Amino acid sequence: MLVEKNVSLQPFNSFGIVAKAFSLVRIDSQADITAMLQDPVLRAAPKFVLGGGSNIVLTGDVKPLVLKVEIMGKRLVQETAKAWIVEAGAGENWHDLVSWTLQNGYPGLENLALIPGTVGAAPVQNIGAYGVELQDRFESVDAVDLTTGQPFTLNAAQCAFGYRDSVFKHRSTASSSDAKGFGLADKALIIRVRLSLPKPWKPVLGYADLEKRMLQSSNDKPDARQIYEWICDIRRAKLPDPKVIGNAGSFFKNPTVSLEQCADIIQRDPKIVHYHLADGSVKLAAGWLIDACGWKGKSVGHAGVYDKQALVLVNRGGTSNPVTGGEVMTLAKAIQTSVYERFGILLEPEPVVV
Ligand code: EPU
Repeated sequence: MLVEKNVSLQPFNSFGIVAKAFSLVRIDSQADITAMLQDPVLRAAPKFVLGGGSNIVLTGDVKPLVLKVEIMGKRLVQETAKAWIVEAGAGENWHDLVSWTLQNGYPGLENLALIPGTVGAAPVQNIGAYGVELQDRFESVDAVDLTTGQPFTLNAAQCAFGYRDSVFKHRSTASSSDAKGFGLADKALIIRVRLSLPKPWKPVLGYADLEKRMLQSSNDKPDARQIYEWICDIRRAKLPDPKVIGNAGSFFKNPTVSLEQCADIIQRDPKIVHYHLADGSVKLAAGWLIDACGWKGKSVGHAGVYDKQALVLVNRGGTSNPVTGGEVMTLAKAIQTSVYERFGILLEPEPVVV
């Protein structure tokens, strides 16, 4: 196990922000974690777990020890009458896993195609798109306690999944405002994820963009492969490829409001995009709110609002003159202020700010 010093994190975050890790250890097996924890200095050091870096904003150099997860491997662990159980190492690229499952005849992840990031990061934010969330296909996760070195396994209930949320996103400090009162952020390192892909396979087609795409084609009985192709097309048309334009996906969560609050906004803005939820509350499209405030295409320094999807903040400076984390957060705060002033809604950022 090698401790690398002063490592540039620019290639390891999808915004392409310049920042360095004072110390970085690559973890490509459980044995690497055991070896690291045998060193008393490394064992005591605060740690930051880095996956694909596709959901973080770096606002400076990273002082905690960075653990770069590179644990690989994909396999079918079990096939029952009800599901295929697939397991993947936390360092695998998420989209590669989706493609691999389809190539091998295990459908079910097609709606989650092209989401940037690693397999290990997928449960952390309970990734979701086009009507499917990770929790709908989740079986269990293997992790290691970074204080004791003990491995453990969590089922879905123990992961406490929510909308872009899980136990892995929360910290367990005495002063934590976390309602659940516990958290595993930077305390546990995910090493493997198991997914349960239900049999018989059923398409998930309800999402408006997908319905539109199906109507345009002559295929009203698409298979998983066809849905995968459509999802890839839809995402490529709407969302910037982080390899070309740095970004961290949706920058804010879609807010939930009460029926009364929504009715009040509709009175003033009848066109507001909203979805009624089963619990009686209403989800609003944050992209629409930001767009309505006139932010699409605008910039603050090298931080910009993507011109095809206002929910995505982008790096307009490329790799040679990249955006800073400060610029991204200044733009984010300006957006929050104008959405709050017009609609009375405080947008909550989705990426982890480091
Ligand atoms: N809209 C606008 N203007 C915009 C952006 C959106 O009017 O600039 C409207 C759209 O016309 C649409 C509605 O807002 O009616 C929703 O937009 P979209 O379908 O693009 O989805 P979203 O709610 O903005 C969410 C996820 C995405 C996911 C898509 C598809 C969140 C925070 N984002 O975006 O996830 O791909 O749905 O399921 O929930 C991510 O998490 O990084 C991400 C990209």
